[in-house]
Amino acid sequence: MKGVDPRGAVVAITGASAGIGWVSALAFARAGSRLALAARRVDRLEALAAEVRALGSEALVMAADVASAADVRRFVDAAVERFGRLDVMVNNAGAGVRGSVEEICAGDLSPDLLRRLGAR
Ligand SMILES: NC(=O)c1ccc[n+]([C@@H]2O[C@H](COP(=O)([O-])OP(=O)(O)OC[C@H]3O[C@@H](n4cnc5c(N)ncnc54)[C@H](OP(=O)(O)O)[C@@H]3O)[C@@H](O)[C@H]2O)c1
Repeated sequence: MKGVDPRGAVVAITGASAGIGWVSALAFARAGSRLALAARRVDRLEALAAEVRALGSEALVMAADVASAADVRRFVDAAVERFGRLDVMVNNAGAGVRGSVEEICAGDLSPDLLRRLGAR
């Protein structure tokens, strides 16, 4: 991470309840960062926060849907209020569809998911 020392840095991660966001949070925790963690599934965020704390770092957990600007604002404000600043924002939350064109076209994709992906 060029320009920011992860030791003591305040790192906010969206989509921290799974996948890349989850493993990134643990990597930052091992490097000594303090973490603000957001996603829609708070139970998973709480489990991650327990792992972060076991590594000796601090963690703030918040339910936030990144499709809601108000949720994202609340998350950033809560991180700054808790830690006094925000050094790194990892805008990781998202969803994708994987497969060949044939598989995707033949698949059972909900209209709602396609709308959220901007592929209606
Ligand atoms: N893995 C890949 O090969 C790959 C390739 C290209 C791009 N990406 C992108 O990289 C990011 C992470 O990928 P991943 O493989 O780690 O995905 P993942 O395992 O499916 O995890 C997605 C994360 O995003 C959260 N999320 C999804 N929609 C959200 C929303 N509306 N508001 C808040 N959180 C939301 C999910 O949490 P909740 O469900 O709890 O909210 C989850 O924590 C995604 O944006 C993905 O599109 C991944």
